[in-house]
Amino acid sequence: MDLVKRDTAGSPSTDTSSADLELARKARSISSYPPLRGQGNEMDVAALEENFRQKNRSCFVLGASGETGKALVKEIVQRNVFHRVTLIGRRLLSFEDKAYENVVQEVVDFEKLDNYAQVFQGHDVGYCCLGTTKAKAGTEGFIRVDHDYVLKSAELAKAGGCTHFHLESSKGADKTSSFLYLKTKGQVEADVEELNFERYSVYRPAVLLVDREESRPAEWVARKFFGMFSAMSIPITAVAQAMLINTLIEGDRKTEILENKSIYNLGKIGGKP
Ligand SMILES: NC(=O)c1ccc[n+]([C@@H]2O[C@H](COP(=O)([O-])OP(=O)(O)OC[C@H]3O[C@@H](n4cnc5c(N)ncnc54)[C@H](OP(=O)(O)O)[C@@H]3O)[C@@H](O)[C@H]2O)c1
Repeated sequence: MDLVKRDTAGSPSTDTSSADLELARKARSISSYPPLRGQGNEMDVAALEENFRQKNRSCFVLGASGETGKALVKEIVQRNVFHRVTLIGRRLLSFEDKAYENVVQEVVDFEKLDNYAQVFQGHDVGYCCLGTTKAKAGTEGFIRVDHDYVLKSAELAKAGGCTHFHLESSKGADKTSSFLYLKTKGQVEADVEELNFERYSVYRPAVLLVDREESRPAEWVARKFFGMFSAMSIPITAVAQAMLINTLIEGDRKTEILENKSIYNLGKIGGKP
């Protein structure tokens, strides 16, 4: 099944730009939402946060030890919008900040995820920032993590009651691509869509701007030549903020694909990326 975006009436549309326009419209309407006191969008976001908090939702995060995952968990914890936050990963993480003290951690063996179905139970929202590289894991290992682990996690999340699944994919994701990376990303996007979440948000950032210990040449080039934001790059905080802000906004699409510019625009609502 092709990955398509659907309008509010549920009719399929393959027009990527219409989803972007819709997000831009949402972003504009929120950033001009009265009453505005003080500077920027503080009041709007505060109202969205409070509204969401009242719903008593819970979430899990996959890939919380990674660069996007870390930034996302920070957003989640600081905004305190979920009554329960679970990090699902292959190792325990340590946090010094007291703000993280109620965060639950579940350590799983991703090769035997079926044995950990209960870990995924009872979360309304799921965020997936998992991923590796071919350089680190080889071709098979890359597909295993970026496709198989992601899809199995999404299946368990759906079975466990998750209604809104967020997937961090990549700019250029395309299951028909001849490039392994883009093909795998496009394939997992499409396969997760088949699970039919009530709401499914796919983020397709360009190269992430982040200070990472590990050397990743594309990120180095993006930092050096493209600066803060461009068609080719995006600050990691913008991605994390966009994922969080998009959660707070009522979705009117079953599946939405946020391209790099839309991610950046949404991220701006959440603060200065
Ligand atoms: N880097 C970019 O410029 C870029 C651009 C566009 C899209 N993306 C995509 O965005 C997503 C997040 O990227 P990122 O750079 O924030 O990720 P990252 O820093 O590389 O972190 C990846 C996460 O996946 C986990 N992971 C990796 N291999 C695993 C394995 N074998 N088993 C279990 N967990 C594993 C890591 O856990 P450990 O800490 O335990 O290893 C970590 O939590 C990825 O899907 C990536 O492809 C990246």
